[in-house]
Amino acid sequence: MPDQMISNSQIIGAYREKTPGSEKLSMEANEVLPSGIAHDSRYLKPYALYIDKADGPHKWDVDGNRYVDYFGGHGALLLGHCHPEVTEAVQSALGAGTQFGANHPREVEWANQVIKMVPSVERVRFTSSGTEATLMALRLSRSFTGKTKFIRFKTHFHGWHDHMTTGYANHFDGTATAGVLDNIASNVILVSPQDISEIKSVIASDDDIAAVIVEPTGSSFGMVPMGEEFLASVREITSANGILLIFDEVVTGFRCAPGGAQEAYGITPDLTTMAKILAGGLPGGAVGGRKEILEELDFEKTAERGREKIQHPGTFNANPVSATAGITALKIIETTDACQRANESASWLRDQFNKTFEEKNISWAAYGTFSGVHIFMNKGGIPLQPSNFDAAAIPYKELKNKDPQLVTKLRLAMAINGVDFNNSPGAQLSAVHTRDDLELTVGAFSEALDMLKCDGEL
Ligand SMILES: Cc1ncc(COP(=O)(O)O)c(C=O)c1O
Repeated sequence: MPDQMISNSQIIGAYREKTPGSEKLSMEANEVLPSGIAHDSRYLKPYALYIDKADGPHKWDVDGNRYVDYFGGHGALLLGHCHPEVTEAVQSALGAGTQFGANHPREVEWANQVIKMVPSVERVRFTSSGTEATLMALRLSRSFTGKTKFIRFKTHFHGWHDHMTTGYANHFDGTATAGVLDNIASNVILVSPQDISEIKSVIASDDDIAAVIVEPTGSSFGMVPMGEEFLASVREITSANGILLIFDEVVTGFRCAPGGAQEAYGITPDLTTMAKILAGGLPGGAVGGRKEILEELDFEKTAERGREKIQHPGTFNANPVSATAGITALKIIETTDACQRANESASWLRDQFNKTFEEKNISWAAYGTFSGVHIFMNKGGIPLQPSNFDAAAIPYKELKNKDPQLVTKLRLAMAINGVDFNNSPGAQLSAVHTRDDLELTVGAFSEALDMLKCDGEL
């Protein structure tokens, strides 16, 4: 954002006035952390909030301001911050030791709980993050099929290891991003997330493809939606060609439904990657799937088959504290209407935002699937009616085409009005957002749009 734009903006002035403690910390952080941050999506101009406490659907910054939280721990907190049962279980797990350097009963219980809930999963291998889970899913696919290449959909995000960096935010031509080798990028084939004929023709002309990975509700939890029919076609073509299908359920798992998007859609992948909600708000990930594929990690089975086993250490895999948080959260999700509540709240919020756009004559739209809310900011000026908006009819480049300055100012204006909107921009709902939180959010959104008008942005 140009400096002059910052000094002339009433929104930025009001944000600075409200959050001096965050500004001070950001200056200190800039001296010790690149860009002052620990995760790219926490980068914000002039600086992001510093939070030091959270509870349920709320969090408080270091200046004591309360926000309704729509980051939800990057999607990990379907049950909100500090769910009492999860917190109590974690506290008692901490007292029993955080790292045994040994197998332990809770990893068995955790795996059983995942297998019980996620329809396609017969065996589980725990990791420490979603990135590690997609890395292992890729390695399992190559080892199991003996094939090399890997298909991804443009805009879909699967973590940050070397095979996942092209084509979700940039490098849509498949060229390697900074620090990644060309011959890794060249074994990743990027295809359109909206035109099924592209993946069909790639598969028809190449018999060296190990797997296809997909965010089953479309990229960034439905920002570029992927219809059920499209997904079913991907399942059909991969099965017909001996290619493994990986559902990346790091976000959608235990969220769209207790058994994830695969339960909601009734479509069965070969492998599933999980993280976030899986570990109940603590670090953790897993890859699960068909038994014979996971056996590529099994000492005896690979020896019997005369195959080399995939190596997989990892100091904190299935650590007992994450396992405890995960088991507790998953059992709550399995036995309550948590997913449904979050889905209903998101649907209500989308409707209210669209009414607001119509009242104010703004041709933006709120859309999304399940518990997600995305704001289409219509940079290209497409004629639309917010309440009838069909994101599937908009080209993915247009859905992703956002003015970073406008996104920033919308988020800052929401923060001034007590809401921490995510950087989609939009929201991931939890099961614990109340009607009061949602109403406050609709009011804040209306105020934020007025502030954007005053700042000359609308
Ligand atoms: C769909 C998807 N896959 C994988 C990942 C990577 O997970 P992690 O951040 O735990 O490495 C993310 C993270 O946001 C994600 O959204």
